Amino acid sequence: MQHLMSPLDLSVEELDKLLTLANDIERNPQKYAHACEGKKLATCFYEPSTRTRLSFEAAMLNLGGSVLGFSTADSSSAAKGESVSDTIRVISCYADICAMRHPKEGAPLVASEKSTIPVINAGDGGHQHPTQTLTDLLTIRSLKGRLDNLTIGLCGDLKFGRTVHSLIHALIRYPNIQFVLISPEELRVPSYIREDVLRKNHVPFQEVERLEDAIGELDILYMTRVQRERFFNEDDYVRMKDFYILNKKKMALAKEDMIVMHPLPRVNEISVDVDDDPRAAYFRQAQYGVYVRMALILTLLEVNIC
Ligand code: CP
Repeated sequence: MQHLMSPLDLSVEELDKLLTLANDIERNPQKYAHACEGKKLATCFYEPSTRTRLSFEAAMLNLGGSVLGFSTADSSSAAKGESVSDTIRVISCYADICAMRHPKEGAPLVASEKSTIPVINAGDGGHQHPTQTLTDLLTIRSLKGRLDNLTIGLCGDLKFGRTVHSLIHALIRYPNIQFVLISPEELRVPSYIREDVLRKNHVPFQEVERLEDAIGELDILYMTRVQRERFFNEDDYVRMKDFYILNKKKMALAKEDMIVMHPLPRVNEISVDVDDDPRAAYFRQAQYGVYVRMALILTLLEVNIC
């Protein structure tokens, strides 16, 4: 039985197979419409979500399966003090596969150790968000045609942004990837990412503060939200929250074929007047999230469709 805690749980070959399956699902949805009949997905969300939870649920419904679960810790017995270990032992009696989001880093891993069904980390604190990474990789491969030879700008909250951390881990496995890390001083990537992941693997990167200085050299601009829920101090959040606002004027400095990605939700960091720009890919990215989660469910449940 396989769980998914980190994008690195999948080899590059396994990832390639999964993304190819997701593309086939996109092209031939009817072929997969009954693939998970009789199977149940539990969504156990101890932290708010729109895209991840609902795209998991849409994915299982598209595969002909059923869904059950909870969307807040308060509406589960966690409110009475139940541990994730006990919860997953019980969920294992009710469902065939579980997607879990939790504010504590490592909570889905703890759950996976007691689970008798596959557990998918749907985001754990500021740590990892592997299915967002699968979504991002599918988006990049589908829209740019490759996962190598890319200059990727990561902009915003690079300190607490789990989507950024997961994406860096995943992309450094491909040839000729370079990063431009665009953030205010206080929200720079953690040193373990800079030293143990980027420098150790000889991945070229530069750190800059002004988006205008970097945007012209990028193939992909990955914007992120400054996350109020990760700050200990409201004053710091207020000072940082509008540090970057991507607008039409800044888009005019970008390459014709650059794409703009964002895991969403956005607050102010992308002006709505960018939404109609053909380079704005963030809503298409959300759609790719359904296809890749369908592919992941099929893979972890070992369902093969010829
Ligand atoms: N991208 C993402 O994780 O969105 P949600 O928080 O809405 O799930």
